[in-house]
Amino acid sequence: MSGIQSSLGPIISVIGAQWGDEGKGKIVDILASEYDVIARACGGANAGHTIVVDGEKHIFHLMPSGCLHEGKQIILGSGLVIHLPTLLKEIETLEGHGISIIDRLHISKAAHIVFDYHKEIDVVLEEGREEPIGTTKRGIGPAYIDKAARTGIRMERLSEINGPLADELKKRTDCIQKTFGVTADMDQEIENLKAAQKKIRSCVTDTVAYINKQRTSGKTILIEGAQAVLLDIDHGTYPYVTSSSTSLAGALQGLGLPPMSVTSNIGVAKAYCTRVGEGVFDSEATGDAKERLRERGGEYGSTTGRPRRTGWLNIDQLNIAHSMNGFTHWNITKLDVLDEEEVIPVMIGGKLEELPGWKTSTAGITSFDDLPENAQAYIKRIELETGVPVGFIGTGPGREEMITRT
Ligand code: GDP
Ligand code: IMO
Ligand code: MG
Repeated sequence: MSGIQSSLGPIISVIGAQWGDEGKGKIVDILASEYDVIARACGGANAGHTIVVDGEKHIFHLMPSGCLHEGKQIILGSGLVIHLPTLLKEIETLEGHGISIIDRLHISKAAHIVFDYHKEIDVVLEEGREEPIGTTKRGIGPAYIDKAARTGIRMERLSEINGPLADELKKRTDCIQKTFGVTADMDQEIENLKAAQKKIRSCVTDTVAYINKQRTSGKTILIEGAQAVLLDIDHGTYPYVTSSSTSLAGALQGLGLPPMSVTSNIGVAKAYCTRVGEGVFDSEATGDAKERLRERGGEYGSTTGRPRRTGWLNIDQLNIAHSMNGFTHWNITKLDVLDEEEVIPVMIGGKLEELPGWKTSTAGITSFDDLPENAQAYIKRIELETGVPVGFIGTGPGREEMITRT
């Protein structure tokens, strides 16, 4: 066993502890070099995971962020809702970079398909709400509506696209029109499915059997969470949430892995906080700080380009996230974004307490001892208040810009 894996163990997960965009993609990319199988479990192309390698930015919506590492097996699990044209585009982009995917991609036959009409329904539902949620308009809610109503179409039916599935889709047109006022272009949907069938038919499989075979034969597995705890359909800030289960429990359910198999669970949180979309945000910044954090942190959505709302770290929320997920480590990301703050407000026990800033650059630092004293104190305060060690600290977007303390 090599470095990080020997301390984290063979089956690990990365879970967002705030409202998403914490930097899950970056740590997954780093850890992926030491794991055999990288798996996405839930959600869909509402996710936007950014990694920066040799100055080049890659944004993934469906593919796990570990996929840049050649030779790793990639799973899209049963809990996902998959928009096939988006997936095909990601695969083509990777292939354009000389990275082969098809021979190592395993897509669950039980994952659900997101159609373009789901995206249109998403827009119609948002427009009809008195208080919109601010969804990513990627059709996530409507696809999960179909799944829960047991009217969804799963990946296993892709092979029927030249026969019964095409007829069934056409028959749905009227119902979609009557229910949502959306005119589905079924000829285009069928073309999209045919293109997917051609490209990825060999990847559709029983991923539950596959991942557990990998597990029992001693292969190592890295689970990449999408979205985050406060966006969880059950435990998040409902109704301003996504439509899937975003916790570790949800990820295990989505993949069909036994709960006791996980050896480490990394909770990812920014050193401050952001939120895209509507809903409560207790520690939201006011005045100049709001804009300053957004500009320094580049806080614009990876999926929609929307400006993210910005604010301060809420340790009370981290404790709630920890209570549900049992984190073994934190990855505190984007510490460098706070470098110029005089004081740093932090929500603890329902109150905003001001901690002293460090007013010096931490960008690119890779050793904890090299951090300024107040930055070390900031990290230690998070450990003290949550009881969870900070195993990883992000000091920049690049793959190398991470302090590892495991
Ligand atoms: P994810 O959805 O959790 O994977 O996060 P996103 O990719 O949506 O957003 C995180 C953003 O912060 C991306 O643009 C990353 O490149 C960037 N990022 C990640 N870690 C760090 C860090 O430690 N410092 C800085 N400055 N940027 C980071
Ligand atoms: P990653 O994986 C941030 C938010 C949307 C909206 C709500 C519902 O990149 O962290 P949806 O389209 O899912 O129905 O939108 O959830 N949301 C995210 N916010 N990061 C994400 O994913 C998100 N996925 C969904 O902004 O408020
Ligand atoms: Mg994101």
